[in-house]
Amino acid sequence: MHVLIHSPNGYPFTLRSLVKNDSGILGEFFESLSPQTRSKFGPHPLDREYAKYVICKNIDVDNVSRFIIVTETQVVGYFIVDFNEYPNEGSRYSSYGIELDFALDPVFAPCIHDNYQGQGLASLGLDALLRYFDKSKIRSLVLMGGTQEPNLLARNLYKKFGFVEIGEFYTDYNRLNNVDMRLVR
Ligand SMILES: CC(C)(COP(=O)(O)OP(=O)(O)OC[C@H]1O[C@@H](n2cnc3c(N)ncnc32)[C@H](O)[C@@H]1OP(=O)(O)O)[C@@H](O)C(=O)NCCC(=O)NCCS
Repeated sequence: MHVLIHSPNGYPFTLRSLVKNDSGILGEFFESLSPQTRSKFGPHPLDREYAKYVICKNIDVDNVSRFIIVTETQVVGYFIVDFNEYPNEGSRYSSYGIELDFALDPVFAPCIHDNYQGQGLASLGLDALLRYFDKSKIRSLVLMGGTQEPNLLARNLYKKFGFVEIGEFYTDYNRLNNVDMRLVR
């Protein structure tokens, strides 16, 4: 996919699928993320090596769709749509009475560059992604690891797009409540 998006303040960005050659700019993006952002978004190691030797190396075989929002020079947003089995999500949702099939109900995780958060970029990106997914077999998007209860920006983003809060769970490592949210299409 390749979509031009205009931020509310008029700047043009492109939302597109990640490709092998993106390892450099993706690694720079990961390494630029602040501790605050890392504390809310930690799906995998966020460094250059991981971008190059794991993500971009396995791009065609890892069963994950990844999308980036880019300016002419840098990555400012990153979306993961992962079709692999997530046993923790599977059992939590099962406890809510929902049986996930990750081929149809992939897990979803977004991250926007610190300098661009709260400016409408994730909203524009998610809107374009959901339209792109119209032609796909995707039945729902399941938030990877839920979202931290105090992360109001994320929760508001998800609510705005129709994600529903399904349940809550506590994690020891950050001593926080997390909210499971899912968007059924
Ligand atoms: C969460 C995140 C992906 C949202 O992306 P974003 O581009 O900053 O979000 P948007 O600017 O599109 O805002 C989405 C909605 O959040 C709400 N919002 C915006 N700023 C807010 C703020 N400071 N506090 C609370 N809610 C806010 C608004 O409802 C907004 O929609 P609206 O402007 O149409 O009303 C991004 O901030 C981010 O990467 N944060 C750090 C990592 C993270 O939390 N990832 C998600 C883990 S679950």
